[in-house]
Amino acid sequence: MNEAFFDKKDYKPLDRVDGHLKVTGAAKYSAEYVLPNMTYGVLVGSQIAKGTIKSIDSKAAERAPGVLAVISHLNAIKVPGYQADPSKPAKPAGGPQPLRVFFDNKIYSNDQPIVIVVATSLEKAKHAASLVKVQYDKEVHTTDFDANMQNGVLPEAAKKNPKSGSADYDRGQTTAFETAPVKIEAEYIIPNEMHNPMELQAVTAHWEADDRLTIYDKVQGTKTTQRFFASEWKIPEQNIKVISTFVGGAFGNGLRSWPHETAAILAAKQVKRPVKLMLTREQMFTMVGYRPRTWQKVQMGATKDGKLVAINHNSVGQTSSYEEFTEATLSQTRMMYAAPNVSTRYRILPLNVATPIWMRGPGEATGAFGLESAMDEMAHAIEMDPIEFRLLNYTESDPDRNLPWSTKYLRECYEEGKKRIGWNNRKLKPGSLRDGEWLVGYGMGTGTFGANRGPATVKAELDMEGNLVMHCAITDIGPGTGTAMVQIASNTTGIPTEKITFHLGSSEFPNAGLQGGSSTVNSVGPAVLAACNALKEQLIAMAAKKDASAFGSAKPDDLVFEKDHIVLSEKSSAKVALSDLFKQNNNRKIETTQESKPSENRSKYSMNAFSMHFAMVHVHPFTGQVRVKKIVCCADAGTIVSPKTAESQMIGGATGGIGMALMEDAVMDHRFGRYITKDFGDYHVPSHADVPQIEIYFVNKPDLLADPVGSKGLGEIAIIGVAPAIANAVFNATGKRVRELPITPDKLI
Ligand code: MOS
Repeated sequence: MNEAFFDKKDYKPLDRVDGHLKVTGAAKYSAEYVLPNMTYGVLVGSQIAKGTIKSIDSKAAERAPGVLAVISHLNAIKVPGYQADPSKPAKPAGGPQPLRVFFDNKIYSNDQPIVIVVATSLEKAKHAASLVKVQYDKEVHTTDFDANMQNGVLPEAAKKNPKSGSADYDRGQTTAFETAPVKIEAEYIIPNEMHNPMELQAVTAHWEADDRLTIYDKVQGTKTTQRFFASEWKIPEQNIKVISTFVGGAFGNGLRSWPHETAAILAAKQVKRPVKLMLTREQMFTMVGYRPRTWQKVQMGATKDGKLVAINHNSVGQTSSYEEFTEATLSQTRMMYAAPNVSTRYRILPLNVATPIWMRGPGEATGAFGLESAMDEMAHAIEMDPIEFRLLNYTESDPDRNLPWSTKYLRECYEEGKKRIGWNNRKLKPGSLRDGEWLVGYGMGTGTFGANRGPATVKAELDMEGNLVMHCAITDIGPGTGTAMVQIASNTTGIPTEKITFHLGSSEFPNAGLQGGSSTVNSVGPAVLAACNALKEQLIAMAAKKDASAFGSAKPDDLVFEKDHIVLSEKSSAKVALSDLFKQNNNRKIETTQESKPSENRSKYSMNAFSMHFAMVHVHPFTGQVRVKKIVCCADAGTIVSPKTAESQMIGGATGGIGMALMEDAVMDHRFGRYITKDFGDYHVPSHADVPQIEIYFVNKPDLLADPVGSKGLGEIAIIGVAPAIANAVFNATGKRVRELPITPDKLI
């Protein structure tokens, strides 16, 4: 990609290409497919958190009107991918060890799905599900994280591989903290947080033959889901079709396959009819993962003039008793600042709960709350401006991997954000700024996330009218992937955006990985680029047959589309009508399929996206109410290919950060090991009134070492660093340091 991509004068931010479909209701989500003979599944969950099922009385349910089956471990057909020996759990390729639904009578967590009722209507299935009576042999469960934190263990991955990200890490002297001139030490806690996207998790499973399965499923990877269920049902991958054309938000809980999907697939096979299953909002808290409760301790040492001497960062995160869930909570501590001595210790605590899953900015967003709060505590201790303190400890290369950055424009973010938030109004002394009766505070937090990239393949077809149609298996969980890809194709070819279509969200399309880890534009974008350039090469070859002197030595970059002609940009006389070109070659359409992969640059450079979030808050001294008045988010995410959707993505991340800082808290009643927050009435997320003006600034400089589009990814850095920015602003306003999220009014008065 040449630099002109960004400088084009006619570069118009594109509206969402699927916006019309979404706002008119024409977009079809996983639960909206109507198939002949459809049936409806409803899950019954365990009432205990640990133990075994003694008996299931399903007679009344079976007799209820419209009921086709009541399926549990007692009568479920065998899932071929489950291994018989529970001590050697099946581990299908493409996914971690799942809970084997309806496998045996074991209960691992409260509301674990134990029965699926299938009926001819949703209402009938719901009614029958209410009639199922289950008796248990209850065992004593352990769900209280805080009371059991000392039992955290080193993850298996770290035991096997000392180089793993979750292994113990020491750089420099491990005792450096003890002798540092200035020391701070603090513990931080984040609660369990739920993804809770608008669209509930839903799957419609349809066995078209004994070994042919179609699922309309809410997922973040159609190919990964296809591989998972191929392995679980022991049928060839190509016999499974996964359709996920539209996804109404996910934030990570579609990154893997869950028991409810197996339940629907199994039930469909058993009743020999399609089964539609949509989770309830309550089940979204117990069946599809969450951001795990995490404790952190940071010890930070510095010189009096603000040079970091040492950081020791320990954390313990919650996991289930049957799977080890890990995330990169401590990775940024190792690379964000130029501290010569750094130690990290990561542990996980298995409890009788369901398995967590990555949630937007997974790990890093949690870790940033610890690290960036501690940075603020240290800046306060040495009476230094927090930005100055960070600039003093800025790293020009990656101190963890000891490699240069591919690009890093975090300084620009500090500079620009400072201006936009009005940082100069900030007082160094907390509690010294007021607006009427409100205390005013300013805070900041930094974020970073790997500029991940994986292989992706795009098929592109161009017809003689100049319509470009592309296909790729990637999903779009909301950021606007189709829009971004259309924009990349248009900028590469000159074809107007309205003549370009990008089809996604089906395992039938060419390969792509997960929409996750901020990797989509970085992975699929280059494949779009490669496909467009391959088409151009074909056109050049076609044109050269007629006019070798002009087109014979032309390169894809020389060629642009102008209305219904192709033109060589250098010599506008070399121009040929697309329709003539196709006719001369007896073609109606040309096509290409191109794969793009990460390059070897990845071992020579450290590649990260960076963000800088500023918050200005008002805190009421009597009620403890926090009002976020303004947020400024600055991002060094490489090329911004789709300015409108990128800005929306940043606003969404900041909004998630407000929730994390001030509201979100999944509260469990440990007597039962069951959440008492189970809807949006109890589990609070920001509403419009909670969200102030959010200003977005992009550095927008390409990182062509990371990938040919120059993008470094945006999804995660949009939220990483927001919660500590708000917490730090609250401290600046009040002088009260709240180290356990969310910062609710009771913690401030
Ligand atoms: Mo995200 S946690 O990579 O869906």
